[in-house]
Amino acid sequence: MSAIKDRDAFASTLGAFAATVGSAVGLGNIWKFPYLTGSNGGAAFVLTYLLAVALVGIPIMVVEHVIGRRMRLNAVHAYERVVPGQKFWSAIGWAGLAAAILIMAFYTDVAGWVFAYVFKSFGAFFMGTKLTPETFGALAGGTWEPLFWQLAVLALTTGIIAAGVSKGIEKVTKTLMPLLFILLIICDIRALTLPGASAGVAYLFKPDLSKITATVLLSALGLAFFKLSLGMGTMTTYGSYLPNATRIVPNATRVALTDTAISLLAGLAIFPAVFAFGGTPAGGPGLLFNTIPLIFSQMPLGGLFTALFFCLTAIATIGAMVSLIEVPVAWAIERGHLKRPVAAALTGAVMFALGILATLSQNPLMANVKVFGKNFFDLFDFVSSNVLLPVGGLAIALVGGWLISKKDFTEEMNKGYATEPWHGRILFAFIKFLAPVLILLILLNSLGVIKLA
Ligand code: PFF
Repeated sequence: MSAIKDRDAFASTLGAFAATVGSAVGLGNIWKFPYLTGSNGGAAFVLTYLLAVALVGIPIMVVEHVIGRRMRLNAVHAYERVVPGQKFWSAIGWAGLAAAILIMAFYTDVAGWVFAYVFKSFGAFFMGTKLTPETFGALAGGTWEPLFWQLAVLALTTGIIAAGVSKGIEKVTKTLMPLLFILLIICDIRALTLPGASAGVAYLFKPDLSKITATVLLSALGLAFFKLSLGMGTMTTYGSYLPNATRIVPNATRVALTDTAISLLAGLAIFPAVFAFGGTPAGGPGLLFNTIPLIFSQMPLGGLFTALFFCLTAIATIGAMVSLIEVPVAWAIERGHLKRPVAAALTGAVMFALGILATLSQNPLMANVKVFGKNFFDLFDFVSSNVLLPVGGLAIALVGGWLISKKDFTEEMNKGYATEPWHGRILFAFIKFLAPVLILLILLNSLGVIKLA
């Protein structure tokens, strides 16, 4: 118990739930999910994504929480020690550290745009002006402005981490998440009552199965991992802070459901409006920044709502970024015996160094710098979401389902129950067979080794 106390465990199951939802909910819901849906053909993508969450996402989250809580260690040390005599599984933790840094490199770029938009939208509201696609183009394609915001976002989040796995931020997100939820619903009502909105709803919910291609399968799987912060040790690290009383399976299921609900609500706010205004759903990463101001500007006090919406999106990004920084920081503290603020500052510096590459890749100066045909922003996103996280998830499923003693695993998974709950065996079968087989099939399919779609 003393080790747990030293390690800053979450105080309660509700706190653990809030922090975990805080990690899951972020730009993935409000920015990535809508634009990937738009560029991958709509409802067929949504359906594939929902299946990926249910069949792969929840089982992997359970494994990560089980291993984290069993080991009560950072990701590298947890996987190094979880299978006796097989230290090389620490590779999962190392790949996780790499993924955390790569994701933060582009995540802080986009989060920086969101924070900039908080100020721009308040400015526009008070000056009576409008935010246009040109506003966004100038920001994302600029030099000092996006770098300034990226640095500001990193300073804020590393500051929070430096101060401890802060109860303050948990409380703040707990208060502001419902507000984000309410604003999303207001936005949904507005969007759904626009003339022509039904085309947007059909786009989200009426799948055309012929649109399921290898790219769609891989993107949906990658998004499920990214969305639920899986495959890279974040949920293992948070699992190591879980109270013993928390029932892991219901907690993970609730987190996945909440997160999915928020993604769908974001889609319902954006697509009906896109169709109503005759826009194109395949708007790419700019969808959020170009569409939301447009929708809100149609409502009374729309400028103010735009500002509030970006405010809350900004706050939603904080919980996710904090969890990303915590992965290397937890390792640095436990490995290097570094003080938390020092570990946070070093991690932040590394993230900023790579972040500059991601941010400036949108700048005309670097328009021609490509690696494997992608600019740095897209490369970091692709390598982390579509390679590191699914491969990490596959390894995690193998460790949890095959290499740890089943007795130890199920004992940890079912803690909090007097007898094995009904879902115990089902979940274990998903972990052992279904999740790894699906991940493997999708990876082989995307490599062209087999042909599913
Ligand atoms: N889940 C976050 C989102 O959807 O915005 C992003 C994220 C956080 C990914 C933490 C990975 C992670 F470890």
